Amino acid sequence: MKIHLVCAARPNFMKVAPLYHALKKADWANPVLVHTGQHYDSNMSDAFFEDLRLPKPDIHLGVGSGTHAEQTGKVMISYEKILDDQRPDWVVVVGDVNSTMACTLAATKIGIQVAHVEAGLRSFDRTMPEEINRLVTDALADLLLTPSPDADENLKREGIPPSRIRLVGNIMIDTLVANLERARRSPLPEKLGLQSKGFAYVTLHRPSNVDDKDTLALIMNELTRLAKTVPVVFPVHPRTRKMFVQYGIPLNGEPSLKLLDPIGYRDSLCLTEKARFVLTDSGGLQEESTYLRTPCLTLRPNTERPITIEVGTNKLTRPEQLASDIEEILQEGQQRGRIPELWDGRTAERVLNALLQA
Ligand code: UD1
Repeated sequence: MKIHLVCAARPNFMKVAPLYHALKKADWANPVLVHTGQHYDSNMSDAFFEDLRLPKPDIHLGVGSGTHAEQTGKVMISYEKILDDQRPDWVVVVGDVNSTMACTLAATKIGIQVAHVEAGLRSFDRTMPEEINRLVTDALADLLLTPSPDADENLKREGIPPSRIRLVGNIMIDTLVANLERARRSPLPEKLGLQSKGFAYVTLHRPSNVDDKDTLALIMNELTRLAKTVPVVFPVHPRTRKMFVQYGIPLNGEPSLKLLDPIGYRDSLCLTEKARFVLTDSGGLQEESTYLRTPCLTLRPNTERPITIEVGTNKLTRPEQLASDIEEILQEGQQRGRIPELWDGRTAERVLNALLQA
């Protein structure tokens, strides 16, 4: 079987890596790694290929940044040509970025089967571009591979026949389990002078947090205040960096607020485990902190990953509520929650079985 594995943006690489490694070992499959080029800076892409021991992509579409329509259109146009030429048996897409939806549209329209890993997640918030991507991808894909039972319920509610749905668990956790020992040896915390459980790890890149000047300024004010008592490590996403510059937000006021360039996968995992708490708007960090049982505040009005709240690690917060939520979290225990079922490091195996059966 010829299987295309599509990746595009930073959170995709962790989801594709365990599938690639498992398919390479199987004697019935020939995986072809397709990178759309949605993320292209070396610290947003190449660094992850190295960390996750992925080879250079077999196919690189080089689409780059653009508006939603531009990016989606460019991926569809380039990928359709590749699909016509290669006719894979399956296209496997992951997550919820623009390229996930674009490749699904291109493939299903010319009769090529698509499997979606991390299907069924819903924030029920259509102002998020990712929610539109999830809805379109799941409506079209032939095989919907879900991380948790809430995702199955969402899909069934949308009228998707159960025969297209398989609960396989969380693919991100395969990568986490495979890399944890090496991640623990990351020199980053020591380099930054951080004590275990004595700092906050922050990542923010959602348009709802960083594209509005007043919101971003309010968040940065709160982080500067926090850093006076607890050191804050904040690797800055290129979108966020761009907005700091555009809005003229000053960045060098407080030495304990450590703003870094984007960091690699293993460094991030190490910070997630060692942090006193995580403050984020990333989907992946909500899940990784849940597995590592590090308390997490999610700076969003909703989450498509409600299981991370149900098991007790994660809590939603708002910019105006940040100060009191941080105070509360600092008074609670250093570990909380429990690991959801099937977040066990063996999801890739179950995905391969589902593909074979289908
Ligand atoms: C994208 C995904 C989002 C995911 C995030 C993870 C969509 C709609 N959004 O958001 O779901 O959580 O990736 O990082 O697919 N840029 C660079 N270098 C890069 C990539 C981007 O400088 O390598 C800058 C560009 O100015 C670009 C901006 O970041 O315009 C936003 O990039 P884009 O891929 O459009 O969206 P993200 O915010 O990264």
